[in-house]
Amino acid sequence: MALTACSMTMPRAVYSGEGAMQNMKSLAAGAEKVAVFTDSGVLSTGLVEYPLAQLKEAGIPYLVISDLPPEPTYAQVQKLVDEFNASGADLIVAVGGGSVMDAAKLASLLATEKYTVKDLLDEPGVAVKTVRTCMIPTTAGTGSEATPNAIVAVPEKELKVGIVNAGMVPDYVILDAVMIRSLPRKIAAATGVDALAHAIECFTSNKANPFSDFFALEAFDLIINNLEAACDDPDALDAKNKMQIAAFYAGVAISCSGTTAVHALSYPLGGKYHIAHGVSNAILLVPVMRFNEPAIRPRLAEAYDRVVHGEKSCVTEAEKSAWIIRRMSEMVQHLDIPTSLAEFHVSRDDLDALVEAGMQVTRLLVNNMREVTAADARDIYLQILPR
Ligand SMILES: NC(=O)c1ccc[n+]([C@@H]2O[C@H](COP(=O)([O-])OP(=O)(O)OC[C@H]3O[C@@H](n4cnc5c(N)ncnc54)[C@H](O)[C@@H]3O)[C@@H](O)[C@H]2O)c1
Ligand SMILES: [Zn+2]
Repeated sequence: MALTACSMTMPRAVYSGEGAMQNMKSLAAGAEKVAVFTDSGVLSTGLVEYPLAQLKEAGIPYLVISDLPPEPTYAQVQKLVDEFNASGADLIVAVGGGSVMDAAKLASLLATEKYTVKDLLDEPGVAVKTVRTCMIPTTAGTGSEATPNAIVAVPEKELKVGIVNAGMVPDYVILDAVMIRSLPRKIAAATGVDALAHAIECFTSNKANPFSDFFALEAFDLIINNLEAACDDPDALDAKNKMQIAAFYAGVAISCSGTTAVHALSYPLGGKYHIAHGVSNAILLVPVMRFNEPAIRPRLAEAYDRVVHGEKSCVTEAEKSAWIIRRMSEMVQHLDIPTSLAEFHVSRDDLDALVEAGMQVTRLLVNNMREVTAADARDIYLQILPR
């Protein structure tokens, strides 16, 4: 029997739990100047003050770079990269969600000014990282703090494009629950379902392997059992910290495996209709899992055995797999995430364009255990379009 080939990349240090932020001082030691990447939404919460206080205490100079919209285009990221390159900073700290972390990771590759973000769209491997990075996620979702990926919008193609470069795996990660304590429920819910999708997609991917299974299953267990509490109860710091760890693990799973048709079909919804990444994945999660079910039933049954800790009432693989899909559907509903495209002004007139754009995301569609034809993609989109 052939042994599964697999590999794993990891940040060199990850800090979590009580007082995790204090590690900022030692990891930044020796830096001449720190560039703190963030965005206006995060800036307005005052959260940036936590890492800044550490840098002030350590006497390390810093500047804050914050002119970034959510889910930016490659040109908007380039503006930040240019600002960073003019700053003379030699350590990047990202304080934000996936949008900020992805921009910071791209900057770490482009400090030599030899290449631009646009160059990386065509040839992601050309640039070499020269600046250390530290990720401080303020959402528990994307897992960007673990991955070699950065995603930017490409308006001329009406798509979001993933840039993958091994150098983008961050050096340090700080998962401090204080950073997501007052995350608005709507954002916590959508980003949390994004992490849920990462976990179950990586576990049911053609690229799944022993390394990714380990992290994907643990992430799935933590999310199935903590996401609702983390979103509903502002004081549930334990559940929130578990969600941060789960999102990180799911990111590690992405690095070793890969997401599947949920993410593939969601890319045009972000690129063309600017629906937030977590929301578009949440809308597609259950329809795609139902479509995949015949091909992934044994995997979903395995996931059931792992995440149900009390009495296990399901016996057959079919019952177990149905339970997992039902549970995910209930979670999306409980969290009040839209389950259709109706409120985003997407109509049946858009169907052909959606199918065409979704089918272009072959990088992820090849990971799907059940082949997705254009007719299948059409059926799936039809389920989420208004009648
Ligand atoms: N690199 C990867 O591996 C990877 C994986 C999945 C998604 N992504 C990308 O990440 C981006 C989405 O990231 P995201 O879902 O974390 O959202 P985001 O970074 O776009 O943030 C969404 C909004 O939430 C606000 N926000 C963030 N943290 C907050 C907090 N603690 N309190 C109040 N407001 C807060 C932001 O200011 C922003 O307005 C997309 O571009 C997506 O494609 C990347
Ligand atoms: Zn995602």
